[in-house]
Order: sequence, then structure tokens, then C-alpha cells
Amino acid sequence: MSDTKQNPAAEITSETSVVSRRDFLSEITVGALGIAGLGGTALTYQYFSPNVLFEPATTFRAGNPDLYPVNSVTFLQDQQVYIVRTPAGFYAVSAVCTHLGCITQWKPEADIIACPCHGSKFQPDGKKIEGPAPRPLPHYSIILTADGELLVDKLQTLKFDQVLGA
Ligand code: FES
Repeated sequence: MSDTKQNPAAEITSETSVVSRRDFLSEITVGALGIAGLGGTALTYQYFSPNVLFEPATTFRAGNPDLYPVNSVTFLQDQQVYIVRTPAGFYAVSAVCTHLGCITQWKPEADIIACPCHGSKFQPDGKKIEGPAPRPLPHYSIILTADGELLVDKLQTLKFDQVLGA
């Protein structure tokens, strides 16, 4: 009698070993092809997807002028703009510090706009008081629409003496 007939476990182990190696190589091949297919699909999807940068609109409505009392500074966080109303009219002042771009904060107790990063300070109309900021905070274009709302255009900057009449 042969060994396999005397010991059936030896035959099973021997056959299992050969089949397992074949199955293993087959599964490796299928797995590699699957990964390559997924990678190719992902690259194709990325290639055909539009490569667009979505940025917020540069023009926005700031609402009715009556929302802003005379001698007030209102921070519009979404737009990073201060709407400043003086007896002379309206300013739209950028809240982005001209030093390194930090967002400034209105400090009503001191009547200043202050930068938390390196200590620049500005008057409510954006003029620099002190600190490393090289320029005042810019004024954006602000107009009154036909339906009576303030419209700010952050792409157009104005001179400091230009205000929208109250
Ligand atoms: S970023 Fe405002 S002072 Fe430096």
C-alpha cells in the first residue's frame, strides 16, 4: 500500500497545498487587476471633473441702510467687511489686515479696529493708528440699489474721502 492510502490526511494536505498556491496566485492576479481598474476609474473621473475653484461672490447686498445706526461699525463676518455709518454716510471697510491678512476685530470700548496677530490698530474708517500694517484698511465700493439696499463690491476700492451719502 502507498503512503496516501495508509494516511488520507497526507493526501489531503498535499492536494490542498497545490490548490491553495494556484488559488492564491489567481486571487492575487484578480486583486491586482481590481486595484488597477479602480485606480484607472478614479483617474478617469478626476480627469473629466471640472477643475474649478469655487469662491464666494465679490458683490453682496448688505441690506437696508436703516439696519445701521449713525456712528456705528457693524462687522459682517461672512463677507469680512465692516459697514461703517457716520453722519457723512457709509463706508464698507475691509476687515482683512493689510500686514499679513489676519481678520481684524472691532473694539467698541476703544473705538478702534484691532488686529489680533501683530497688534496693528486702525480707526473705524480704516486709517492706520499704529502697528506693522503697511497700509490702511481699504474701502470697498458701496452703492444704494434701486430697491433701496446697500450693495458692496469688493473688487472695487475707493479713496478714503469717498462715502455713500446717508
Ligand atoms: S496681520 Fe495684522 S498686524 Fe500682522
